[in-house]
Amino acid sequence: RPQLLIDTDPGVDDALAILMAHAHADVAGLSIAAGNVGIGHTVRNACTLVDLLGAATPVFPGCPGPLVRAPEEDAAFVHGADGFGDVGFPAPAAAPADEAAALALLRLARERPGELTLVALAPLTNLALALRLDPALPARVKRLVVMGGAVTGHGNTDKVPAEFNVGFDPEAAHVVFEAFPHFELVDWEATLRHAFDEDEFDRWLAAGDARAGFFGRVFGTARAFNRRKARRGIIAADALAMAVAIDPSIVTRRESRHVAVELDGRLTRGATVVDWAGRLGRPANADIVLEVDQVRFGAMVRAALGAAGEG
Ligand code: BDR
Ligand code: CA
Repeated sequence: RPQLLIDTDPGVDDALAILMAHAHADVAGLSIAAGNVGIGHTVRNACTLVDLLGAATPVFPGCPGPLVRAPEEDAAFVHGADGFGDVGFPAPAAAPADEAAALALLRLARERPGELTLVALAPLTNLALALRLDPALPARVKRLVVMGGAVTGHGNTDKVPAEFNVGFDPEAAHVVFEAFPHFELVDWEATLRHAFDEDEFDRWLAAGDARAGFFGRVFGTARAFNRRKARRGIIAADALAMAVAIDPSIVTRRESRHVAVELDGRLTRGATVVDWAGRLGRPANADIVLEVDQVRFGAMVRAALGAAGEG
């Protein structure tokens, strides 16, 4: 089984990705970022998930905000004020570890050289801090899979043609994209191409176990938001990135390009710039995932909800 170290800001689609990770891989830890909502909520939500799963996965609290500039928006309007659909879960029994996320990332990568796949499902603040502390980190991990960016410039933030994770902390994304000679990028537009049919997804939720029951509850605000936006289907960005992290053979189409982050820009701070035409003369750092096998992606999600038989 793959060994994953997940940087995440749960978050509804983060929750689904974390369920998938525990169903299909060994999870070395959850390092927690601020993003969808504040760090207090994202740490607590990660602990709630650990309780649900009955797992011993450590939760490492991360940086409470971006490296440089305070963000203009979070994503509470999608995920709920508490990041988990404002369901009102009781305080979790699991407690976060007494080790900062960036330090835990470095320690675990040192302890298991070449074994861990880093899965970044949140603004890249913790990873950037870790890289600044120890630039040798990329050589110590097996792969880095990032959910982030908007390679054709559509994006999902309000004011800029950017994707939320990169737009929330552009400097952090810049540090990570410059430091890693090679990473896999699952961008926002890929997630739109890999939505699930709502009726089909509801059948999985109805057929699944406690994990499906849980996800059905946290998912309410995000579903309502998508409907207001007239988006079709169930969009789960972090789940798609997780599928790629768990099994890279699921990818059916990819392009290797240099990807950078715009840090200034009158209209484009936080946008990802893909050098499609090779003008920058820089080596490709990113494998951009364009298409995955949707049937296998669905099977991975179903298994994570305890609805594997519901083909
Ligand atoms: C990303 O932003 C967050 O709101 C989601 O959890 C996902 O990581 C999608 O742009
Ligand atoms: Ca996320």
